[in-house]
Order: sequence, then C-alpha cells, then structure tokens
Amino acid sequence: MRIPLNRNPHPSPGSHRERVARSQHERTEAVMYVNVAVLKETQPHERRVALVPSIVAKLVKLGAKLHMQAGAADAIKLGDAAFNDVEVIANRHELVADADVVLAVQPPSLDVVEAMKSGAILICFVYADNEKALVQLLLEKKITCFAMERIPRISRAQAMDALSSQSALAGYYAVQLGSTHLARILPKVTTAAGAIGPAKVLVMGLGVAGLEALATAHRLGAVVEGYDVRPETAEQALSLGATFVETGVDARGKGGYARELTPEEKTKVDAVLTQHIQKADLIITTAAIPGRPSPKLISKKQVAGMKAGAVIVDLSAEGGGNCEDTKPGETTEVGQVSILAPLNVPSLLGEDASELYAKNVFNLLALMLKDNIVAIDWTDEVLAKTALTHAGKMVEIKPEPAAKPAASHRHSKPAAKAA
Ligand SMILES: NC(=O)c1ccc[n+]([C@@H]2O[C@H](COP(=O)([O-])OP(=O)(O)OC[C@H]3O[C@@H](n4cnc5c(N)ncnc54)[C@H](O)[C@@H]3O)[C@@H](O)[C@H]2O)c1
Repeated sequence: MRIPLNRNPHPSPGSHRERVARSQHERTEAVMYVNVAVLKETQPHERRVALVPSIVAKLVKLGAKLHMQAGAADAIKLGDAAFNDVEVIANRHELVADADVVLAVQPPSLDVVEAMKSGAILICFVYADNEKALVQLLLEKKITCFAMERIPRISRAQAMDALSSQSALAGYYAVQLGSTHLARILPKVTTAAGAIGPAKVLVMGLGVAGLEALATAHRLGAVVEGYDVRPETAEQALSLGATFVETGVDARGKGGYARELTPEEKTKVDAVLTQHIQKADLIITTAAIPGRPSPKLISKKQVAGMKAGAVIVDLSAEGGGNCEDTKPGETTEVGQVSILAPLNVPSLLGEDASELYAKNVFNLLALMLKDNIVAIDWTDEVLAKTALTHAGKMVEIKPEPAAKPAASHRHSKPAAKAA
C-alpha cells in the first residue's frame, strides 16, 4: 500500500542544507517518491532554469522528491537556498543517476543522458532534427522523452504550451529592444516647443510573439500595423488597436500554421508590403513555418528603401531570419537601417521565462504524477503527442486509441514505431 507524503508544515530551524537533509531523512522512512532532478543549463547564454521556488511545493504535493544541480538558478539570481525542500547536488551525473524524471530547458549533453537510468523520463526542449546523436542515445537508453516543442496546440494544453509562453515574452522584448535602438520615442508627445508624432511600428507575422509585440507597441503609444498570411489574424490585430495590412493572399496551412507562399503570391504580397515597410520606424518580424527555414519577408531592396534611422528586430533569426540582410545573433547596420537578430530571446528575460517554463513543465508533469508514482496514460493526446521516444522507439504523433489507461510508464506502451 502506498503511504501518502507526511510533510511537516512547521520546519525546524537550521541551515538550508540541514533542513533539507532532515526533511528528506524524515520522509525516506516509509514513503514512495518520484525522484525528480533539475539540471543546470550549460548551453552558452542560457539563463533559464526548469524549476522555480513557487513550483516546489506543488511538485512535492504530487509526490516528487526534488533534487537540483548546485547553482541551477544562479543565472536568474536565485541561490540554492531559495529552494526549500530541494536537495542540492553538485555533480550532474550523480544528480541524474537515480532520477525517475529529469527536467531541463535545453536538451542535455550526451554524458548526462548516459548517466540517467534506463526507463527514466526526460522533459525539455529537444528539436530532434538538430539532435540526432541525443535521440539515438535516448533510444538506446530507453528514456521516455517528452519534447516541450511538441506540446499540441489545443485548448487543453495551453497551460503546458512552452512555445507560447516563451514566444509571448519574446514579442514583448522585441519592442523594448527595438525602441532603445531608435533615435526617437514611440508615443506622441506634446511639449512647449511643439509636438512629436507617434512612431510607426509594423509587426510581420502575427502568431503568439507577433500579437504580443503588437499589443506592447500599441500600449507604448506607437501607431501599429500588423501583417500575416493567415487572414484570421486581421481580427486579432484590430482587437489590439492595430490596423491590418491586407494583401489579398490567404496562405493558411495545416494545423493552424501558415504554408509557404508561391512565387506569384510573393510578388503580389511584396507590392503591397513595400509601401508599409518604407513608412515604418520599427519593424518586428516573427514569421515562421514549422519545419522550414524562416520565410524572407523583407528583401535587400526593401531595406535599402527604408527610412533613415529605422530599426528591424528579427525574431526569426533562429530559423535564418525574415530579412535578407539578417545576420543571426548579430546587430548590423545596412545603410541607415539597424537590423537586430537576437538569438534565444526568452533567455534574456530569464526570470519570467523560467517562471512560465517551470509552470508549463509542472502542468505537463501533473498529467503523469499521481499518488507518488509516474503513471502515463498513453490515450491522453497531450502526453502521446508530446512524447518523442519511449521504450527504445520513436513515438508517432498519433495517439493510440487504447482501451484503458496504463498503471505506470514502465508497463504501458504508446503508439511507437521502430527507430
Ligand atoms: N493552444 C493553442 O490553441 C495555441 C497556442 C499557441 C498558438 N496557437 C496557434 O498556432 C498557430 C501558430 O502560432 P505560433 O505563434 O507558433 O506561430 P509561428 O511561430 O509558427 O509563426 C508566426 C507567424 O508567422 C506567420 N507567417 C508564416 N509565414 C508568413 C509569411 N510569409 N508572411 C507573414 N506571416 C507569416 C504565421 O502565420 C504565424 O502567425 C497560430 O494559429 C496560433 O493561433 C494555438
């Protein structure tokens, strides 16, 4: 019989390390746990962390025994002592060796996965096409990997949708970044010496990041225009106080995403967009097509025709950029125009990005941590579609219409195909 966690609501005094050790000791007597390990990110410029203090108590309530790599949240100015009820372990191999679940933001290095026990769960962003060696190792080690970028875009999964939470922050940040590179202000201002008109901001690509950029620029007093190839975004732009650039092209693709434009459509769109590009003080581009390089929305010729002092913030730099002059990761001056192409923008807002990401991960974990054990219901669309690997096989996108929920991930099978 499983014994529920019996946690002391009045912790006794002592150092953080002593309190954690005492509380862990008290709890190891007769209780089953799910060992959860949180990694310190190692990729350059990655400031985020997969656990924040506000999530700890919620995870413990679900039956998690938490372990964290020393200094995991240093980059967002949270010391280890901020994490009550979390055992801090310096060595990352030791940290993951006994873990049932390992949490991270970026895909971990191969040595970490090598140190994980077979059959354990890994939750992080993966982008499998860029991580062939990692995926191979996940298969060999029979790791069940949930890739955060695979969370389905359905209403029930919104609370787990890390792509959305991180994109919303990026959209906000793009406006701040762009405005500090302009030699002018965004709102209309009237002074004794005369009035200054509002800046014109054009947002191209109205997904989660684009709509947030549009709303932020509008709040800051700019005159805002939005453009997308999905016509349904027109209403969203209008509701946020922007006007919509109508091009007459509808490029709705599968699953609510956009498709690539045909050469004829591109010519038609360019003719309309050029006029708006030429008038803009600040352009924010966010256009993306899943599995494809970023579509080029602004040509070199169009950049050459822009206002002197104008700024482009290209949020699609990771996929190669939406502007022909974009240099991913760099800020370049092309004539009188500045082109900013920051990479991993959510990490620049590491505190908020970690808070939202940790909540997304918690909401996903809450689907599988029950009564102090891991129980994956492979008929749950969210879990089945987010899983990348399980039991040595690649998981297919389609969930298997199984008859009854499985009791534990070690004994249940998702729809899987041979690697
Ligand atoms: N849980 C949910 O229901 C949920 C959550 C988030 C997003 N969504 C939907 O998913 C879809 C994608 O959102 P996203 O933020 O991931 O988008 P994304 O990052 O894939 O793309 C950003 C935007 O670029 C646009 N785009 C692509 N090619 C373009 C071009 N040539 N010119 C102009 N714009 C172009 C796309 O239409 C999209 O709006 C949207 O329909 C969004 O509403 C649903």
